[in-house]
Amino acid sequence: MNVLILGSGGREHALARACARSPQIGKLIVAPGNPGCATVAATVPLDLADHRRIVELCEREAIDLVVVGPEAPLVAGIADELEKEGVACFGPSRAAAQLEGSKGFAKDFCRAFGIPTAAYGRFRSRDDAKAFIRTRGAPIVVKADGLAAGKGVVVAATIEEAEAAVDALLPASAASGAEVVVEEFLDGEEASFFALCDGVTAAPFASAQDHKRVGEGDTGPNTGGMGAYSPPPIMTPEMSDRVMREIVLPTVRGMAARGTPFRGVLFAGLMIGSDGPKLIEFNVRFGDPEAEVILERLTDDLLPLLEASAKASLAGFSPTFGADAALTVVMAARGYPGEPARGTRILGIEAAERVPGVAVIHAGTRRTADGLVAEGGRVLAVTAKGHTVGEAQERAYAAVDRIDWPEGFCRRDIGWRAVARERGAGS
Ligand code: AMP
Ligand code: GLY
Repeated sequence: MNVLILGSGGREHALARACARSPQIGKLIVAPGNPGCATVAATVPLDLADHRRIVELCEREAIDLVVVGPEAPLVAGIADELEKEGVACFGPSRAAAQLEGSKGFAKDFCRAFGIPTAAYGRFRSRDDAKAFIRTRGAPIVVKADGLAAGKGVVVAATIEEAEAAVDALLPASAASGAEVVVEEFLDGEEASFFALCDGVTAAPFASAQDHKRVGEGDTGPNTGGMGAYSPPPIMTPEMSDRVMREIVLPTVRGMAARGTPFRGVLFAGLMIGSDGPKLIEFNVRFGDPEAEVILERLTDDLLPLLEASAKASLAGFSPTFGADAALTVVMAARGYPGEPARGTRILGIEAAERVPGVAVIHAGTRRTADGLVAEGGRVLAVTAKGHTVGEAQERAYAAVDRIDWPEGFCRRDIGWRAVARERGAGS
């Protein structure tokens, strides 16, 4: 099978590693890819907004399956474009990608199909949003409607903070068409749940917890994710069944009933509270850095699973994962999540990969005549497997310590919640 993976981050390097392991793989191309992807696949420079060129690349390379990494091309309709040309695509249509592309759409969908989520209102007018906030009180959450790369959400501790968020996210004129969702604050523990979907049915595909805040102890500004681990202790088999029954399957059925079947991976961002799981948000692609850890634990061949999801033949598949835990530590360039320092040299990756169970996934690197340099905010995802989350954590940090990159930084407490639980349990 000739496979094209679209994207250039850690998620795409992890996907490429998993596809490269498949006995069924023919040509493997990542576009545009990164230097990590280039160790397991061919890479082709490409602007992901240029759908015409993507289709041409598929024709030229006789691609059998396109795997779309990030959300933006999906929301822009790349799956529809490929389908028209008869190329199988892992990832939803433009209409189905609205589950991530519009928070308002996702909330209305949940209401229509009885999917548990925070109570909410949708607003185009600042005054109306503020009136709603005052009747609800704080804490309360304000979200921009569209794709915002993790930056469009404000969890406000006070009414004043929530009102300021409305002013920041919504232009003064309601005629702008911009919209915010204001929603109830949910208490509990977060988890990222993944399910493969083929338009008709769905199969659970492991879960993870990520650390969204830049600072230790989960403090400071939000980022795309500073690290992750899998499996999260909170996601027991019973909880996983419940999430499938109460959230994932109703979503797949609801989207099918509306004539916009969902294919690809449904990533449910969950809050697990005392009364069970509630949906915080949907994403329509693998998480980054969650993909790095769940794909390390997958014991099945990934390719048939992706193909079955793309071709509506997932019934009967149940993906299996090893008992080992996996944990990834993101190394970011100083300045992130603000403007990161670019072009600084990174040494020691080979030494890091000699730590047992470790793979150094590239997220934002560039190969130059002088060697490897940082390119972008999140630069490396140092990923380790172990018998426990604690062991995976020790190995990941042993590898981090072998990387010679003074301009990079990472959190030192990735996995703290699970490691504390393991210690409490005496393991
Ligand atoms: P989102 O982009 O919707 O996933 O939101 C980003 C982060 O904001 C989430 O991972 C949560 O930590 C937090 N968040 C979003 N919505 C809520 C909510 N209703 N209650 C509490 N925290 C939330
Ligand atoms: N790590 C969260 C995300 O991929 O959206």
